[in-house]
Amino acid sequence: MELRTILKALARSWPAVLACILVGVAAGWGATTLSTPVYQARAQLFVSAQSGGDTMELQQGNSFSLARVQSYASIVTSRQVTRHVVSSLGLDTKPDELAGRITAEAPIGTVLINITVSDTERRRAADIANAVAYRFSDVVERLESLDPAPPASAAKSPVKLSVTQTASAPSAPVSPRPALNLAAGLLAGLLLGAGAAVLRETLDTTLKTADAVTALTSLPVLSSIPFDKESPQQPLASGAAAHSARAEAYRHLRTNLQFAQIGERPRIIVVTSSLPGEGKTSTAVNLAFSLTEGGISTCLVDADLRSPAVAHAFGLVRDAGLTNVLIGQARIGDVMQSAGGLSVLTSGPLPPNPTELLASERMAELLRDLAADYEAVIVDTAPLLPVADTAGLATFAHGALLVVRAGKTPGDRVRAAAEALHTLGVRTLGAVFSMSPMPRYAAYGYGYGDSSAAWPTPAPMPPRPRTGSVLSRGAALLRGETK
Ligand SMILES: Nc1ncnc2c1ncn2[C@@H]1O[C@H](COP(=O)(O)OP(=O)(O)O)[C@@H](O)[C@H]1O
Ligand SMILES: [Mg+2]
Repeated sequence: MELRTILKALARSWPAVLACILVGVAAGWGATTLSTPVYQARAQLFVSAQSGGDTMELQQGNSFSLARVQSYASIVTSRQVTRHVVSSLGLDTKPDELAGRITAEAPIGTVLINITVSDTERRRAADIANAVAYRFSDVVERLESLDPAPPASAAKSPVKLSVTQTASAPSAPVSPRPALNLAAGLLAGLLLGAGAAVLRETLDTTLKTADAVTALTSLPVLSSIPFDKESPQQPLASGAAAHSARAEAYRHLRTNLQFAQIGERPRIIVVTSSLPGEGKTSTAVNLAFSLTEGGISTCLVDADLRSPAVAHAFGLVRDAGLTNVLIGQARIGDVMQSAGGLSVLTSGPLPPNPTELLASERMAELLRDLAADYEAVIVDTAPLLPVADTAGLATFAHGALLVVRAGKTPGDRVRAAAEALHTLGVRTLGAVFSMSPMPRYAAYGYGYGDSSAAWPTPAPMPPRPRTGSVLSRGAALLRGETK
């Protein structure tokens, strides 16, 4: 895995990583405060050989001690020692358990034996260490004596063990070690957080950039609609929001759509996506509104008969609309509503059989009639993958727009939707990359007027397009005039 991928994952999930680090440090601190302190006390013994005064004998005695001292160290934890210490100090512990808290080591090349005892009480640690040291020297001397039967003093031992350093009560515990626990907690938290972030990044197949959408679907991205927290309250980017980055992005979609249609004349455009909540209704509503603003007579049809939302966006009546016409209850003119110059056909009452209704010949006829009356017919639809409603309907359209929600829709869903449209023989005009993260500079208005910026310059927006302008040319194309 590349370092860049790891750093990107960390940057994206830094709050989670930080949370893991804090939890790790808290766990380290908890372990420190909750664990019982353990103290260690140490006594030291010196092994000497009982020898005469001449150098030769001294030399032999020293070699003897060096050879035996390692074996003596193993005797420190023997039962002969521990049992005696337990009874003499009146300890509430078993000899074997005590043995587990005693360590003895004889540094190579020396005749010294260090005895270390661990205990939860500092004074007791020292008492045990001293008791062990004295009992141990007795045991060894008795073992080495020529007459091992007690009393030991009567026998003659060739070695003598003297306590050179008695144990004293330690001032600080050896465990817990707060710095070590905190450092371990921090490291564990960091590793866990970073691991989870990298795993999430690896498993995340959502599309983060418009280029990724094109790479996956081979569709041009006609516009990237920035995420705007005002959007749920104000679905239509008009009025006070008319100059927002979101409104500009919808105008950009209109312009690009007009260019995407060169040579043909799709008037009926279905706006769809793979899954619910990707921004289909927002796109359909704002595109239709933007076309109307651009002087193109437009009709918006709410053909999402599962979750209709167009009426709400304009504050219109929902209960009279498309389905009334489809079942022959009303004529188009009876139920068509108007919102600021835009004609809107809301869903009407929700039928039990939306799939059949939307794929019916009556629906095809209705769209043909609308296409005859309007320069553009924008159809909001149900998502492609969970239900079959849009599959039949899309075949009546001249073109489709595929909405892809940034960082949310899994790549395989997007591809499945694009392939479904292709299989149906529907001409997909392009993708709309919805709720994309706003580049930081765009939030400050930098890049305004810069054609290379992510949110391109809005097309000039005169109330009526002048002849020869981009808009009027686009309008002419929509009307099917070729110039
Ligand atoms: N550009 C945007 N920024 C923030 N929220 C958005 C944006 N576009 C749409 N939304 C919100 O996302 C949700 C789904 O949008 P909607 O257009 O209803 O999707 P769909 O029709 O695909 O189900 C709605 O709550 C809507 O307000
Ligand atoms: Mg919708």
